[in-house]
Amino acid sequence: MTTYTDKGEKHEQGRFLCFDHITFWVGNAKQAASYYCNKLGFEPLAYKGLETGSREVVSHAVKQGKIIYVFSSALNPGNKEMGDHMVKHGDGVKDIAFTVEDCDFLVQKARERGADIIKEPHTLEDKKGKVRLAVLQTYGDTTHTFVERTGYKGLFLPGFHPPLFQDPLLTKLPSGKLDFIDHVVGNQPDDEMVPVVDWYQKTLLFHRFWSVDDKQLQTEFSALRSIVVANYEETVKMPINEPAMGKRKSQIQEYVDYYGGPGVQHIAMNTSDIITSVRNLKDRGMEFMTVPDTYYEQLKENLKHSKVKISEDLDVLQELKILIDYDDNGYLLQIFTKPVQDRPTVFLEVIQRHNHQVQSPKKKTFKADPAYAFSFTLISRSFTGLRSRKLQVSF
Ligand SMILES: [Fe+2]
Repeated sequence: MTTYTDKGEKHEQGRFLCFDHITFWVGNAKQAASYYCNKLGFEPLAYKGLETGSREVVSHAVKQGKIIYVFSSALNPGNKEMGDHMVKHGDGVKDIAFTVEDCDFLVQKARERGADIIKEPHTLEDKKGKVRLAVLQTYGDTTHTFVERTGYKGLFLPGFHPPLFQDPLLTKLPSGKLDFIDHVVGNQPDDEMVPVVDWYQKTLLFHRFWSVDDKQLQTEFSALRSIVVANYEETVKMPINEPAMGKRKSQIQEYVDYYGGPGVQHIAMNTSDIITSVRNLKDRGMEFMTVPDTYYEQLKENLKHSKVKISEDLDVLQELKILIDYDDNGYLLQIFTKPVQDRPTVFLEVIQRHNHQVQSPKKKTFKADPAYAFSFTLISRSFTGLRSRKLQVSF
């Protein structure tokens, strides 16, 4: 693994503040939104559709903590853009939106540096105020929306109305306890990772935060190439992956085959209480990847030789199949869902960081960010079963 100390150039004005929201293009937005509410603990936030005067596209926005997902579908026959997207990708992430300061300046900078602007900066307005937005093309058919919300007081964005329906079931279910988006991972076809990373560095002035290549991280069966890019303040982190050759076809290649090209592989959601979160999400019927008990036996053995002390009960972590990774400074706990649609494409992660929230590559003792590396453990595990134990030792 490699960490980087050079944060590169900083914008003269304007900043990327955080993830604003994620937009999924799906076949049936009503049902997709209901799934995320029922299984993952989101609540209806805002809506636009036929009833509110949106005649072409319906959008259901749902929220949990600071996380906002929007599910959109075409309302009429013949919507070629959304129809073609559906045929090619199935349900998936169309747009990753960032909350920004000075949308116009950031777009102008990106344009000068070669970015493709899909929608020029424009203002949306209603009684609750104004929002300035613009849309840029990124990898594959995925886009980034810049959202400058100066003083906007509405539910979500102008044009959205309060939800038409509150499912009475939701108030009876235990909280998902998910707080904010930790990172969003993009999969690329072979040899396209570096050009995508270069694009973020050049056009958005993001910098390399952490990386791993297949010489550094591999098992007998699988390997990983990944570079994490981040904004200057490191509040937005986006790992970019590409497949690496192993004896078995990599999960990243499988994603690219089923998604029909590059796209968002997973969204990690941060919690301050992963045990309660995962217990509640499992009670709500969310399906997670499992891990063999031998993983925990090996882990307990390894922890005997580590400075780090895990404050959670290891038996409970084992019961819930939560993964643990650590270095000398701290540790993190994480778990991955099964894919959330029939194609083996997008899945979700729940993550809790202990002394990993403010990790900076300037700290020389910090070898790696396991949140990204562990994605590899999962990828490897799905093909190699017990072999993941070997990786745990190597981290
Ligand atoms: Fe992750």
